[in-house]
Amino acid sequence: MRYIGGKSLLLENINNVITSEIPKVSSVVDLFAGSGIVSNSFKSNGYRTISNDFLYFSYVMSRASIGLNRKPSFKKLGIADPVRYLNALTIADTSYEIDQCFIYNNYSPVGDCERMYFQPENAMKIDIIRLTIEKWHTEELISEDEYFYLLSALINAVPFIQT
Ligand SMILES: C[S@@+](CC[C@H](N)C(=O)[O-])C[C@H]1O[C@@H](n2cnc3c(N)ncnc32)[C@H](O)[C@@H]1O
Repeated sequence: MRYIGGKSLLLENINNVITSEIPKVSSVVDLFAGSGIVSNSFKSNGYRTISNDFLYFSYVMSRASIGLNRKPSFKKLGIADPVRYLNALTIADTSYEIDQCFIYNNYSPVGDCERMYFQPENAMKIDIIRLTIEKWHTEELISEDEYFYLLSALINAVPFIQT
């Protein structure tokens, strides 16, 4: 993910410092985790990894990656591929009101702010997915692990939306 101050281009250097200069390290604390890319790199390289950041977005990202060791099963929800299911949803499939669509109303040209971050249909898609994840969680159809897995998948996808 693109993130201000993101360290994706420095991962090799960070890893080199740990492996060559302090080689007996087995645990790493990423105190300002942001996107979680540094924590994820350490976790993939076999380190016990602790991740911290005061932004909730960052907590969601780390909870779904550092905090999870396998893909959740979504057994109770009974939908084999929830990401595909969410991607295909339209507002007509739901009972959501336009007023509930925060991104549509605040980050697209149709709302009072007339912001140009997303096309109305893309903004609406983000809202439908976000509202459905919250609904599933409130109705206890998904576990905490499944909730954060889906939220993080949505956050990861948003920067790749074209226009
Ligand atoms: C430059 S970014 C980190 C980027 C991250 N290493 C990455 O590659 O994505 C700095 C992060 O520090 C977090 N931060 C700043 N002050 C903090 C504090 N006092 N406690 C926890 N996190 C803090 C910010 O929320 C931000 O995500």
